[in-house]
Amino acid sequence: MKDIQNIVILTGAGISAESGVATFRGPDGLWEGHRVEDVATPEAFARDSDLVQKFYDERRAQLATVAPNAAHLALAELEAKWPGDLLLITQNVDDLHDRAGSQKLLHMHGELSSAWCLACDGRSPFTGQMALDPACPQCDQFGHLRPDIVWFGEMPYQMERIELALTQCDLFVSIGTSGAVYPAAGFVQSARHYGAETLEMNLDPSEGSFHFHQSRMGRAGELVPAWVEQILSHGLC
Ligand code: OAD
Repeated sequence: MKDIQNIVILTGAGISAESGVATFRGPDGLWEGHRVEDVATPEAFARDSDLVQKFYDERRAQLATVAPNAAHLALAELEAKWPGDLLLITQNVDDLHDRAGSQKLLHMHGELSSAWCLACDGRSPFTGQMALDPACPQCDQFGHLRPDIVWFGEMPYQMERIELALTQCDLFVSIGTSGAVYPAAGFVQSARHYGAETLEMNLDPSEGSFHFHQSRMGRAGELVPAWVEQILSHGLC
């Protein structure tokens, strides 16, 4: 087993499932009742901004009712104790990794608790309801805020930094993601191409499961703390 120094971890909706946040493609999926084109594209926002704002307002309000679970907490503990480099990339727009204490964290698909002002281009922390057309905290103009969420057809955030990290990591770990949405679904192939060990932890095999050296199937709330304990004790995946 190779010596592990640099770890890149990718998380998806599955890591927040045990906190009570619905996944996207599960039986009670978030999109139920909404076609993705109606709520998660720039075209949908241009067509019916009220529908889109209310959809994300509901998701944002839900954050107050959920809490980080054992998997989020274990990853924050790993970051605090790991002597090498670590980068946590999440596709999730919830704030559960932040609240668990992770700091070396990228929200590649944006964040519910951030507002993007299309008038001044500023991004601000946000907890209220955008459907009420509040003023931008930075430029004070009304009616120009949109969720700071990466919609289909838009470029995920911080891709240059992510690609660099993937070339430099010794271990790439994917947790709770179906592997259905690119570019995140391709990170395992990039990391492996540059020589990383690769590990998947998911309830079911993801679409790209065969790309991983090792797959562990089960609940993130059980698998992740066990893996963190293992890697902190032995330095191995
Ligand atoms: P998905 O809903 O596509 O996949 C969630 C994965 O988590 C599935 O493979 C489940 O088997 C797994 N899962 C469910 N419960 C779990 C548990 N308790 N422990 C471990 N795994 C569990 O969610 P994502 O892969 O995150 O993009 O979806 C990717 C992107 O698609 C999202 O970021 C979002 C969506 O469109 C944007 O909003 C831009």
